Amino acid sequence: MGKKLVIANWKMNLDYYQARELSKMISKNNFKNDLVVAPSNLYLKAVLKICENNPQIMVSSQNVSEYDNGAYTGEVSAKMLKSLGVSYCIIGHSERRLYFGEESKVLTTKINQCLKNNIVPIFCVGEQENDRDKNEHFKVVKNQILTVLDKINVTSIKKVIVAYEPVWAIGTGKTATPYQAQEMHSYIRNLIIEKYGSEISETIKIVYGGSCNKNNAKDLFKQKDIDGGLVGGASLIFDDFIEIVRIGELF
Ligand code: PGA
Repeated sequence: MGKKLVIANWKMNLDYYQARELSKMISKNNFKNDLVVAPSNLYLKAVLKICENNPQIMVSSQNVSEYDNGAYTGEVSAKMLKSLGVSYCIIGHSERRLYFGEESKVLTTKINQCLKNNIVPIFCVGEQENDRDKNEHFKVVKNQILTVLDKINVTSIKKVIVAYEPVWAIGTGKTATPYQAQEMHSYIRNLIIEKYGSEISETIKIVYGGSCNKNNAKDLFKQKDIDGGLVGGASLIFDDFIEIVRIGELF
């Protein structure tokens, strides 16, 4: 597969000055591969400015409105993000599904908003712990993927990045084993082959998220169908994040 992609999801962390500081530290490095930083929307402009001279750093939003524009107080549209220079957007993170009730229908609309505005959607899927206990994890992920991808224009599918994030591994320190992660990634890749053929399937990046850190990144990234990582907690610690990015560059 192609180059590994490492994505930093800062979630609702860091104040403005800390976000600027971390961006400055990251942007001073030269990278072989693209990497993506997803700060709070409030800091997007500052992070874009700080990283503008580092061609390898892409900036992502953590969410987007399902609407084009208009009277939607508090919302941020894909067009607004694009006008700032944002080029990626995380969609359907399990925290948005869980705490904000986002389901497939709204997630499909959000992905389409991104695609319409030339923003790469990072579409998150993943089972809960009890789904895995019941051996229903493949069924759950299949459903999450197909209900959304079915409603996306086939010509745009290859622009979507899929992030497999088992919910039980997010922020828990309990990572999926490389075997479990590879097994699911290969399952997802096969679903995409069945629906869209192998050319599209090989183009789509499938990244792993859920307690990805500097100690497990190598074993995860070694796996054939793991194209990188979506990193939460460890992306807030400069040295740890850079180490994960450097591990990604080994492949
Ligand atoms: P984590 O978060 O690395 O802290 O588990 C990953 C994510 O939620 O994207």
